[in-house]
This record gives sequence, structure tokens and C-alpha cells, in this order.
Amino acid sequence: MSEPDKYQKVIELAKRRGFFWPSYEIYGGEAGFLDYGPLGSLLKRKLEQKWIDWFVRRENVVLIDSAIVAPEIVFKASGHTAHFTDPITTCKKCGRKWRADHLLEEQAKISGEGLTLEELGRLLAEHGVRCPECGGELEQPQAFNELFKTTIGPYSEHVGFLRPETAQGMFVNFKRLYDLVRGKLPFGAAQVGRCFRNEISPRQGPVRLREFTIMEFEFFFNPKKPECPKLSEVLGEKLRLLPEELIKRGVEEPVEVTVAEALDRGYIKAEWSAYFMVRAKHFLNELGVPDENQYFREKLPGERAHYSAQTYDQVVKLSRWGYVEVSGHAWRTDYDLKMHMAHSGEDLRVFVPYGEARKVKRLRLKVDKARLGASFKDKATLILRLLEVTPAEEVAEALSREGVYQLKSNGETFELTREHVEVVEEEVEEKGERILPSVVEPSFGLDRLLYVTLEYAYTERGDRVVLRLPRDLAPIEVAVFPLMNKDGLPEKAREIYLSLLREGFTVEYDESGSIGRRYARMDEIGTPYAVTVDYQTLKDETVTLRDRDTWKQVRVPAGRLPKVLRSLFRGEISFEKAGEPLQTSG
Ligand code: GLY
Repeated sequence: MSEPDKYQKVIELAKRRGFFWPSYEIYGGEAGFLDYGPLGSLLKRKLEQKWIDWFVRRENVVLIDSAIVAPEIVFKASGHTAHFTDPITTCKKCGRKWRADHLLEEQAKISGEGLTLEELGRLLAEHGVRCPECGGELEQPQAFNELFKTTIGPYSEHVGFLRPETAQGMFVNFKRLYDLVRGKLPFGAAQVGRCFRNEISPRQGPVRLREFTIMEFEFFFNPKKPECPKLSEVLGEKLRLLPEELIKRGVEEPVEVTVAEALDRGYIKAEWSAYFMVRAKHFLNELGVPDENQYFREKLPGERAHYSAQTYDQVVKLSRWGYVEVSGHAWRTDYDLKMHMAHSGEDLRVFVPYGEARKVKRLRLKVDKARLGASFKDKATLILRLLEVTPAEEVAEALSREGVYQLKSNGETFELTREHVEVVEEEVEEKGERILPSVVEPSFGLDRLLYVTLEYAYTERGDRVVLRLPRDLAPIEVAVFPLMNKDGLPEKAREIYLSLLREGFTVEYDESGSIGRRYARMDEIGTPYAVTVDYQTLKDETVTLRDRDTWKQVRVPAGRLPKVLRSLFRGEISFEKAGEPLQTSG
């Protein structure tokens, strides 16, 4: 039997020790769903809390928690009903369905991202790609929408969808949120929550799920003031980037540039994105991923989501899957707010005052509503709303150049002529202007990050597994053991266990098996410190404290344990400084 790879070892450990396992196992399992066990649930919460600390508490970002089910109109407006698709192909022989681009990648080693359905079909045929299950021929790929559909209430015509991202919660609530931050840009709104994507054939365990947790925020800024005041903190920071410009020239490896260079060369278009990409790099460092095992790859125009003007994926090297996306950094511009404004009729613009009132010449659109109605029927209201947020200069330029303005919305194009809309110039006194904020979005997949954290923490020492989790993420922080299960040691150990619980630590008490086996169990689940109560404890109230990574032990007065442990978790003291050293191993 071949030696299991690191992925298999981590998955086996995750199941055996209760981090996670496939859902619905007793019914044979259901691909794309994962259940978290006692340790996994704690680790997931700690990761979430760390992300909130990192991106909400320390940035100008507010946290919300919006509904998971949304009526159809929300995802019509956002463009997901039209664009949230992946290419699917069906086996002509066995009828199984597959993600066409993934089969091309797996069997022909050609990236399928961004290809049209026709191109995909041609390449699948040219390279003889077959059904992985029965070897049958494949049908021409089609677009498959990945939204999970449901109905709301007892009306089958009232269609709803489970959200595929939390972002729309921030956009539909933008008006309230803007008021709550007292009407000031820039600011961010974040959310951590379950999302659902009806993946065609998820086959990568925790890396590709149908139900998963996203942690993301929308950062709203004035497009006329796009400068990020925090940029000076990160200008000299190095980022490993693979920008579109280099990919198109055939470059395959990322280049290392400073943030200043990345902006100067136009690799990153929005300053705020650059700032948050640096924060994301450091966040991954904190989870155990060194700089050399992560970089940012720009999505090519055909690969980008419909709402994005530029997207970088933060990718991390994994043992089995190569480089895998863990976060996306999209510049969504004003796309979503503009679309929700058009579909809801709510004015989502914000008023930005000038210093003093100005007399200005303005172009204004004068719409002939009757003509619009006659030409575009039930789409006329949508067009009218879209025109309210369309710069008049853009329309004037197109009308004078071509005599027609092509208004684009969610894959549809409406051709407007001077019969529908006229551009007039007028002089007005303005105190300020109404603008739609621009948006950058850093978006992280929590389940993938959890797997990444486990894989990077997984080490072996001899025949033992030591899970070197970042200390602040360890699900169990401290273990307390009596050396022997007699002579009053368990009673004393329980006393210490309870005192540490009262101090707020997550503690586990264990008196079963040999002390060596108990240490090994704690190493395997990543518990950074173990406290052992022995015969000397009964004499002088000191205990041994053991470090997971070095297996070193020091002797510490029991009464000082909370303070010492707190300092160790905060990284304020080295383990050697925590007490009197002991000569031991294992
Ligand atoms: N909101 C990020 C995404 O949909 O991937």
C-alpha cells in the first residue's frame, strides 16, 4: 500500500480527532457538505474571531448578519441569476454530469477558466477527454446556474435563492449602514455567514463545498477620492503578484514587487485593494503560511465575476491540490449599488458636499417616457432608473458619435436613440453632488482557511503527530493531568483545572492512560500547553508545564499559572522564562 500523502493524513486526523468529516455519512454521504466536530467547531470559531479582530475591529468596518434566503429580485439585480454559471457536460453513455473546465484541466492539463462553451467543447473533443466514471463520450458543455433555488412561503411562484455570497446583504442594507456610520466615506461593512453554491461535481473535500462559510467585507469609498490614507503604512511591503499583464506575456511565476511598484506599474488598480491585500498576506502568515507559499494571481477578463473591474485571488500552496484560492480581492466598482438602485427604485447615492456652493454647467438627460414605454415595454422602468445613474456625458458622447447609446444591464443591451433621450445643458448652483460609492471587496473562505491551517500545522516527530497550530487558534488551550490516578493527585489536578476554567481558558482534564500517551493525544490536537500535577505539587504547590512544540518542561507555582499562560499566549515571554527548567523529554 502506498504511503498516504499529507492531505490524506490531515483528513484522517480530522475525522479521528473530531475536527470535521463528510456530512450524512450514515446515508452514504453527500458530496460538498461537511460537518464540524467538537474540535473543528472551536477552531472554526477561533478563526472567525481572529478574522473579525483583524479586518473588523482594527479597520473602519462594521459587522452585520443578514438573511440567508433572498427573493429572486435580489439576485436578478446583482446579476447572479444571469451570470452565476459554470460549464457542465453530460456523459452520453452513463448520464453522469461533470464540470467541463475541471475535466479539461484534469485530463488535458489545459486551464479551462474563462473559455467560452464552444471553446471548451472543441478542446474536450480535440484532447479526447472522456467521462472519468465510464470512459463515455461527453456532450457539448452548457451553462449551469449554481444558485440553490427554493420557494418562499406557500406560493410556488414566489421564488427565492440561498445566498451564494454574503455581499448582497451589505449592498441591500447600504442606505441604513451609511446612516449608521453617520454618513461618512470611506467605511466597510462585513459579514461572516453560510453561503450556498450548487457545485456541479465537488470532489476536493473541504476545498470545494456546496455549503460553506464566507468572511467578507465591502469597503465603500468615494471614487473621486480613491486614495487610501493607510497606504503609507504598506508602501514598502512586498507582494508576490501574477498580474494579467504578465500572464498574457506567458509568465507563470509570480513577481515580487513592493506595493508602491504594484500601483505605479498599474498591476493593482485600487489603492484600497492593495492595502487589504497586504493585510490578507499577513493574515495568512498568522495562520502559518509563509510568504513563499502564497501569492496573488489576477483573474483574466474572461475569468472575472460579472461585477468586477479587477480581481486578484490570494492562492496558497497545498500538498495535494497545488495553489488554491483562499481569498478574492475584487474591485466591484459601483456595479452592485447601481443595479440595486435600478431594480429597487431606491436612491442609493450619497450626498458629498463641496466646500462652498458652485455655479456649474451640467448636462442633463431628458427622457421621453412615452417613447421609452412604446419601445421597451416592461423594461422601460428599469431603463429609466438606470439612466438616473448614468453620466449624461457618456450618453451625449455616444449619441453624437453613433446616434445610439447602448445601455447595458445584466447581459441585456438596450439601444437608445435621440427619440428616447435628449441631452440638454443647463446652469445650476450646486452645494455638492450625489455619487455612488465605489467598492473593493476582500472575501475569504473560512472552511478552506481551516483546512489550510490544519495542513500547515501538521508535523510528524518520529511516529507521533504534532499539530503546531498557531497558539491563539488552538481549540484546547491547556491540558491538565494528574501524573498518577491516585494519592490525591487527581483531586489536586481537578482543582487546578477548575481554576483555569474560571480564568477563562479552554481546558481539558485527562487522567486516563500513561502520561506519555496523554501528552501525545494533546500534541495531536494542537494543545499548546500541558500542566502535570505530581508528588512535588503536594509538597510545594508547583506543577510542570510542558510546551507542545519543543516538549520542554518548566516548573511553575500553581498560583502563577493563569498569569504565566496568559503571557505565553500573548507571546510576551519565551517558554524558558516561564519557570524553572526541568530535564525531561517526551
Ligand atoms: N463575494 C465573493 C464571491 O462571491 O466570490
